[in-house]
Amino acid sequence: MKQASTAVRLPDVQQAPGYVRHEKLKAWVNEIAALTKPDNIYWCDGSQQEYDRLCNEMLKTGTLIRLNAEKRPESFLARSDPDDVARMEDRTFVCSKNKDDAGPNNNWIDPVEMKATMNRLFDGCMRGRTMYVIPFSMGPLGSHISHIGVELTDSPYVAVSMRVMTRIGTPVLDVLGNDGFFVPCVHSVGMPLSPGQKDVVWPSNKAEKWIVHFPEDKSIWSFGSGYGGNALLGKKCFALRIASIMAREQGWLAEHMLILGIQPPNGEKRYIAAAFPSACGKTNLAMLIPPNALPGWKVTTIGEDIAWIKPGKDGRLYAINPEAGAFGVEPGTSAKTNPNCLEALNRNVIYTNVAMTPDGDVWWEGLTKTPPAKLIDWQGKEWTPDCGRKAAHPNARFTVPAEQIPCIDNDWENPAGVPISAFLFGGRRSTTVPLVTEAKDWVSGVYQAATMASETTAASTGAQGVVRRDPFAMLPFCGYHFGDYFKHWLEVGAKLKNPPRVFGVNWFRLNQKGEFLWPGYGENMRVLKWIVERCEGKAGAEETPVGHAPRFEDIDFTGMDISREQFNELMSLDEGLWKKELQDHDTLFQSLGTRLPEALRDERKRRGASFA
Ligand code: GTP
Ligand code: SPV
Ligand code: MN
Repeated sequence: MKQASTAVRLPDVQQAPGYVRHEKLKAWVNEIAALTKPDNIYWCDGSQQEYDRLCNEMLKTGTLIRLNAEKRPESFLARSDPDDVARMEDRTFVCSKNKDDAGPNNNWIDPVEMKATMNRLFDGCMRGRTMYVIPFSMGPLGSHISHIGVELTDSPYVAVSMRVMTRIGTPVLDVLGNDGFFVPCVHSVGMPLSPGQKDVVWPSNKAEKWIVHFPEDKSIWSFGSGYGGNALLGKKCFALRIASIMAREQGWLAEHMLILGIQPPNGEKRYIAAAFPSACGKTNLAMLIPPNALPGWKVTTIGEDIAWIKPGKDGRLYAINPEAGAFGVEPGTSAKTNPNCLEALNRNVIYTNVAMTPDGDVWWEGLTKTPPAKLIDWQGKEWTPDCGRKAAHPNARFTVPAEQIPCIDNDWENPAGVPISAFLFGGRRSTTVPLVTEAKDWVSGVYQAATMASETTAASTGAQGVVRRDPFAMLPFCGYHFGDYFKHWLEVGAKLKNPPRVFGVNWFRLNQKGEFLWPGYGENMRVLKWIVERCEGKAGAEETPVGHAPRFEDIDFTGMDISREQFNELMSLDEGLWKKELQDHDTLFQSLGTRLPEALRDERKRRGASFA
């Protein structure tokens, strides 16, 4: 039998491969290994062989199931524990020294207390497991907008997912050099194995889950969950929460935004960055296929979840996608809603929590109109269409390399980034908010983004479908006080030569019968076209209390069945609802206290007056 994981196995500096030259990194890995006491330490090189080997090991343990080799080559299915299916906002903490710096938008615990908690939880938590050392770059290797992190994890599922979602391995260490800066990220599923104990297919900790950020140390600790943003620490924890703090210190922006390119039939290609809350349509919009009735228009994808944006010397903003893969929502993804995405999913995919067909293919709600007669559901149980349960979990997701997206932009790995012409902000609002409006200037755009709201989705645990303020779609992701964040946005804009135009959109308005008023998906191109033409100074608009709005004749509805009345309903501003809306803005602003920028307070006054 294997030795118990005791001092014999205690890792020492020698265990780092010879090519690791970063002394601080080696010392940190040893320090964490001494605390967590894994059986082995393994440094990921990032190679395909390594990925294949880890997947094969997970096939043996049952963590992964190989899918039909013809229909889904090199693809796997993972089924998580039913208690570990989404981000947990109530278990996420930002532990700044000063509570006020975390703001009312974050859970806070004193960092000294939290470090004691982490030391207790992580003590011996990797016993019986291997600790993977994953050096990763967020953004193209060596780009001046990119940054490096190192994740230590006891989950091989996390290790292979990080290889898809980021750029990992030895090339990253080369960029890091002897003493480069990296964000230390420690992750454990929180389920040590005693000698001889049989593992489960999805280890996690039932009793405790913690996703913890230390702003002053720029470090991340995550315990107890193996799922998505809780565990792939490059994504929300680093690229949004910690990066938003770095961005503020260094004068750039880290945002929950897709980036897309639009090539008009005649004219200049433009890039747009768009913020929508989780499961509100970023992936769909980023891969949009324009309707046939708008010939010559082409949309390409730079990113579909996160944007890192830096002011350039020319006074414009340049954006990169810090990720290398997509971790996207399955339910609702179909040949109709997102054919580009579906095509990307035909090989090299890790599916999590979707249903499986009898022949080893995958299925989720919305993939086809008629469900297969028989499935194995996301929990491994037999499923039939009349059984009353969902076949796939509502937050079932795919992990796929970005290079497989058929409409990926030629410049998606350009280290210089792409210039941003416009920002879009959109929530899921069944009432109140019109299809599209344009803010009259930067300050008013920041106000609009700051006061946006959305109905909550299955991307996070907790109540679903509840309208809440979600400023910049960053409520779960901004690593510091929202008042300071709004101020930072105002300051970044003030320094630009021609700041991008700012638009608000809402694809989700419902009619009296509860049906969508707007067809969405590919038809969103009509709104994008108006936006591009506004950037070119070509398209018309009228002034409303919430900004410039298109009239029926300002949007190209060629080949689309929509009446002027329907459009007016989509665009209508209900005075009663807007008075209530403005009161909600006040509640948000009051919660920010003295850190709310004066300029937004003034804008609130102007808006109040225009509705009076
Ligand atoms: P995260 O990855 O969670 O950050 O989310 P995302 O913003 O990338 O979400 P995604 O694009 O995967 O959103 C999926 C959800 O949005 C599904 O419920 C879709 O049906 C819905 N959706 C996307 N685009 C549209 C649209 O144009 N109209 C409507 N009505 N629904 C849409
Ligand atoms: C989101 O919830 O916004 C996501 C998925 O993009 S996760 O990475 O799990 O946070
Ligand atoms: Mn997201």
